This record gives sequence, C-alpha cells and structure tokens, in this order.
Amino acid sequence: MDPVTRLGVVGCGLMGSGIAEVAARSGLDVLVAEATHDAAEAGRRRLTVSLDRGVRRGKLSEEQRDQALARLSFTHDLGDMADRQFVIEAVAENRDIKTDVIRALDKAVEDSAAILATNTSSIPIIDLAVATERPAQVIGMHFFNPVPVQQLVELIPALTTTEETVERARHLTQQLGKQAIQAPDRSGFVVNALLVPYLLSAVRMVEAGSAVPDDIDRGMELGCAHPMGPLRLLDLIGLDTAQAVAESMYEEFKEPLYAPPALLRRMVAAGHLGRKSGRGFYTYT
Ligand code: CAA
Repeated sequence: MDPVTRLGVVGCGLMGSGIAEVAARSGLDVLVAEATHDAAEAGRRRLTVSLDRGVRRGKLSEEQRDQALARLSFTHDLGDMADRQFVIEAVAENRDIKTDVIRALDKAVEDSAAILATNTSSIPIIDLAVATERPAQVIGMHFFNPVPVQQLVELIPALTTTEETVERARHLTQQLGKQAIQAPDRSGFVVNALLVPYLLSAVRMVEAGSAVPDDIDRGMELGCAHPMGPLRLLDLIGLDTAQAVAESMYEEFKEPLYAPPALLRRMVAAGHLGRKSGRGFYTYT
C-alpha cells in the first residue's frame, strides 16, 4: 500500500495540532486548515511552541524541529485541500460544524479515492459519511490527548466504509507511529464507553461530598498506577468536551451511568473547563 505523503488536518486546537505535529514529525507533508487567518496563525504558534518544547526536553534535535516545521503549511481556505490524499478533521465537537466541514472537504478534495477521516469522539460516523458523496471512504480515527504521547488510534468504520478504507487508515496510523484498534460505530466507541462512566462516578463522589478531588485522584494514581486520577484527567480532556461525550452516550443508550452530573454541567456553565480555561477541579496558572 502506498504511504500517505500529503495529509490534510482541519482544525488546529488541542487535537488537530497534536495530529499535525505527529504527522510532520513522521515525515508527511501536512496542510493545516483553520477557520480564519488569525486562527491559522494561532495554530502555527501552538505547533511551534510544542516543537520547541520537544527540543528543550531532548525529544528532537533543532534540525528535526526545523524539518518538521518546513513540512507544515497553514491555510484558512478548505479549497486548498484539493491535492490531499487523506484528510483528518479535528474541529469542535459539534455535529453541525463537523457536518459542514466534511461536506466542504468532500467537494474540495479532488481525488475521489481520497479518504476523509473524522476525529469525533461522539458523533456517529455514519451520519458524517452520508453527508458526503464518498461514504465508502469516510472513517472515524479517534486520537487521544495528548496526541504526541498517547499511542492509540481507534478506527471506526461506518456501515458504508469499505475494508480498503479501514486498511488505508490502519496504514496511516502505522506511519504516524501509533497503534490501531477497531471500534464499533456506537457512541463512546471502545475507550470512552469504559472511561466516561468512571470519570462521571468521580464527579458524583465530589458532588456528594464524600471525598475531595485530591484524595480521589491520589487514590487512583497511587492505588491503581493510573498516570493521573479521574478529576485531573477531566481537567486535561476539558469539562465541556467530557460533557458533550457523556451527553451523546446518554442520548444513545439512555443509561443513567452516562448522564452528566449536575456539578459537571454547572462547572461548564461557569466556564470552569479545566486546564484550557485555567480552572476546573484544580486551578492552573
Ligand atoms: N506534547 C508532547 N509531549 C508531552 C505532552 C504534550 N502535550 N504532555 C506530556 N508530554 C510528554 C512529556 O514530554 C514527557 O515525556 P518524557 O517522559 O519522555 O520526558 C511525558 O509526556 C510525561 O510528561 P510530564 O512529565 O510533563 O507529565 P506526566 O508524567 O504527568 O504525564 C501525561 C502527563 C502524559 C498527560 C500523563 O499524565 C498521562 O498519560 N495521563 C493520562 C492521559 C489520558 O488518559 N489521556 C486520554 C484522555 S481520553 C481522550 O483523549 C479521548 C476522548 O475522547 C475524551
């Protein structure tokens, strides 16, 4: 199977910038699209800061950083994706926005055999696939945060996705130095279906006043060797993202264990979204 050489990444937030960084470091030519010129420039800065941090931590040489930066280009026009062989969208976890983006990509990408992947964590892949003229070449590729660190990509074929598309996505996953598992097109896929009820249980424990966040987190870190406890992890994921994922799982299964607790909703309403807003279950400076 021919390797992907020209990758597109749409969205340069937490996930998109991580995917673009890993791809550029893996030797791919990466075109990153953001909604506006300013957002594209902010994306470029985010990637540069992350690559500089990699140099400081001894993960890559200055030469490798410069090579990775040279492989990255930025645009605010999805039309520039015309020559891409594979595009991964990682825009906000919002059904309307993602549908608009995948439709626009379907029109923009000239090679009708090119694959359009979505990094959604909660929207059914089939809903995005049928919004395009190429439902056989639409697939979910779910990365984990922080993307440069976490090894996993969940591959989620929709009912319309061909085996060839799955194999090409698996091949790209290997090019990125990651490992794939195949997951069902069900809300939560494999990992979030197990992880989200656990995270929400920790929020309920705080809500009930039965334990404080630091004790809950240290309990799981020291007792079960988790790299971070559930509330620190929620702060990393973003409470708004976690709420959106839980809502979609609750909508699909109607199981109380997926229902976002009131405390989570209130914190999101207050703008206490975790690390990205400087405050969640903990404060960040
Ligand atoms: N970019 C690149 N590298 C990073 C990084 C980033 N954003 N953050 C951390 N790292 C690297 C560091 O360079 C460091 O590497 P070395 O050990 O080789 O020097 C390593 O990761 C550890 O980092 P730190 O020492 O700074 O901090 P840590 O040991 O506390 O690790 C962590 C931080 C990697 C986030 C770790 O705590 C961890 O793995 N936590 C669990 C994260 C997790 O479960 N993610 C999945 C979330 S669920 C999801 O994403 C799906 C969804 O749909 C919601």
